[in-house]
Amino acid sequence: MRVISVKDYDEMSEVAGKIIAAQVTVKPDCVLGLATGSTPIGTYKELIKKYKKGEISFAECKTANLDEYFGISPENDQSYAYFMKDNLFSHVDIKPESTNIPNGQNPDAEEECNRYEEVIKKLGGVDLQLLGIGNNGHIGFNEPAEGFSCTTHKVALTESTIDANTRFFASKDLVPKYAYTMGTKTILGAGKILLLASGENKADAIYRMVAGPIEPGMPASILQLHKDAIVIADKKAIRLLEEKAPELITTKMN
Ligand code: GLP
Repeated sequence: MRVISVKDYDEMSEVAGKIIAAQVTVKPDCVLGLATGSTPIGTYKELIKKYKKGEISFAECKTANLDEYFGISPENDQSYAYFMKDNLFSHVDIKPESTNIPNGQNPDAEEECNRYEEVIKKLGGVDLQLLGIGNNGHIGFNEPAEGFSCTTHKVALTESTIDANTRFFASKDLVPKYAYTMGTKTILGAGKILLLASGENKADAIYRMVAGPIEPGMPASILQLHKDAIVIADKKAIRLLEEKAPELITTKMN
């Protein structure tokens, strides 16, 4: 695992934007695995800037998003489909038909999960998967559990994730209780992984993900098994790792 320590959210976004832009430059028809949440918004802004300056094009790219809330329509402004349009797709030249996201409106979980795995297979797999991390170490919506999940599945969100996501909804009751998410095996299938973290509330998850044992109670710890995983964490998010296991930080940019 390559761990890059940066100053703050803006520097994290800048470094991540450069890595994704490099991927798009060397392979214009690459498959990008994309994530939602507040963490990647700055990275998407960097990509939009690079596109507007004519440095990169997404015309041949394809995308596959990690997850989507269950029972939510793409028109709902809290859906991840809406988030992706709003924060990236509507600002760049990606073709709408080249973007993929689980269909939160399909009530048949088995059918939807099989369909989504098939979509990823047909794309030839993900070249670069962008990830955030939940306060409890979840990736996508792979929550702490007894065992690691495998392929795309329907998951019940934990109380801590529902609490963390309540800030985006008018009230806690409105936060969906289930989601469709790529499984850990699906995520690990990506050629390259880029995980971003910013802020004090991610410090424990970053420390345990990088330095702790690989265990399903800390879903992100499985990324230690990936051959090409890059973590970019800002000062606040890396504080515990820096305190307890500084030797695991490979590059310091701050
Ligand atoms: C959600 C998403 C994750 C994301 C996490 C952290 O639960 N499903 O993909 O990484 O939240 O979100 P944030 O970046 O807002 O801290």
